[in-house]
Amino acid sequence: MQTLKGKHIVLGISGGIAAYKSAYLLRLFIKAGAEVQVVITPNGKEFITPATLSALSGKPVVSEFFAANTGEWHSHVDLGLWSDLMVIAPATASTIGKMANGVADNMLITTYLSAKSPVMVAPAMDLDMWAHPSTQRNIRTLEQDGVEIIQPGSGELASHLTGKGRMEEPEEILRRVECFFSRRESLRGKRILVTAGPTYEDIDPVRFIGNYSSGKMGFAIAEEAAQRGALVTLVTGPVSIETSNPNIERVDVRSARQMMEAAEKAFEDCDAAILSAAVADYTPEFRHDTKLKRENTDGLELRLVKNPDIAAGLGERKGDRILVGFALETDHEHDNAIAKMRRKGLDMIVLNSLRNPLAGFNKDTNQVTVIRNDGKETEYPAKEKKEVAVDILDQLEDMMASER
Ligand code: PMT
Repeated sequence: MQTLKGKHIVLGISGGIAAYKSAYLLRLFIKAGAEVQVVITPNGKEFITPATLSALSGKPVVSEFFAANTGEWHSHVDLGLWSDLMVIAPATASTIGKMANGVADNMLITTYLSAKSPVMVAPAMDLDMWAHPSTQRNIRTLEQDGVEIIQPGSGELASHLTGKGRMEEPEEILRRVECFFSRRESLRGKRILVTAGPTYEDIDPVRFIGNYSSGKMGFAIAEEAAQRGALVTLVTGPVSIETSNPNIERVDVRSARQMMEAAEKAFEDCDAAILSAAVADYTPEFRHDTKLKRENTDGLELRLVKNPDIAAGLGERKGDRILVGFALETDHEHDNAIAKMRRKGLDMIVLNSLRNPLAGFNKDTNQVTVIRNDGKETEYPAKEKKEVAVDILDQLEDMMASER
């Protein structure tokens, strides 16, 4: 089936051994009906010839800023406007570094910087290069810039070492591209509220009660919903993640009470809400205006009072909106999650357990079970939080469709 009919894809190829797979990936895109323009780095041409790529794509391959025979300037701006999606496969550590830092010294990077379309990157490199803090820092930067990373797989690498760094197989990259186009419009016209991160409850001007939530889970959900076309209000506690998707309106808050006010306001107009924030259940009864001095006390007793339950409050007045909560549990996980879903008036609850080392606070991965009030239950394996967000949004869309 021509799943990519009429789509314009810029296929960026950088200089790694996995470039041999790019010819097959290009073939898969063409067979699926896409029009593909290849942009290759000078080193990429050492691994695969432009002749092969232009024969497969039916277009001259772009590599240099100027065409060798005519001296004509290749416009990266036009290419950036033409593309519906840019896929860089393989992306070497060097290309990833240049993308993250805007080092525009070849056609692939200038095209990336000019691209108005979303961008996907399939890294490929040796395991130590992949694990290096600098590569990981650059990957995080790209993610914050809205680039979708197709994580490399594990296995035997070109160096004969075994580990993570192998470019994802072309069939899987094709599947991700097909999903991208099919889901792109699936939430257009919908408004979704997402809460993320921790809340901080102030004791005095320098101290607070908080928790370890990084916001990674909630931000991944907001990004995925926005990529599907939804208008997202992301109400977040204090985190160090940035957002750039124009479909996301970000509201920064500090305390549970502030989060409640912002969430209630956004809830009015939304079709669904996903509450992934780790909201403090208690707050100090008094906030001291000046710093508490150690010399003035023998010890310190803090009286804490209950914070409002944001989820339960929204649950009481949700009407026909779909309300999704999270349950972070340490014991009797399943029973506690179901009880929480009922108590808070949720339609669906995403259970993650702190007993699982691949789940929970500040990790890049999570392992969840989605429990719905229609009795359906799905246990997923541990995945990157971005992929968990895909599963949660798929479940939400399924519920929306069945309520229609
Ligand atoms: O941010 P990360 O580092 O990526 O970590 C992600 C996460 C572990 C924070 C996330 O996956 C998660 O589990 N979020 C919910 C954490 C939590 O507070 O769980 P809970 O079981 O205490 O709360 C249940 C639900 O009620 C949650 O949807 C919560 O947002 C909501 N709640 C809780 C208390 C409160 N006062 N108001 C609420 O709305």
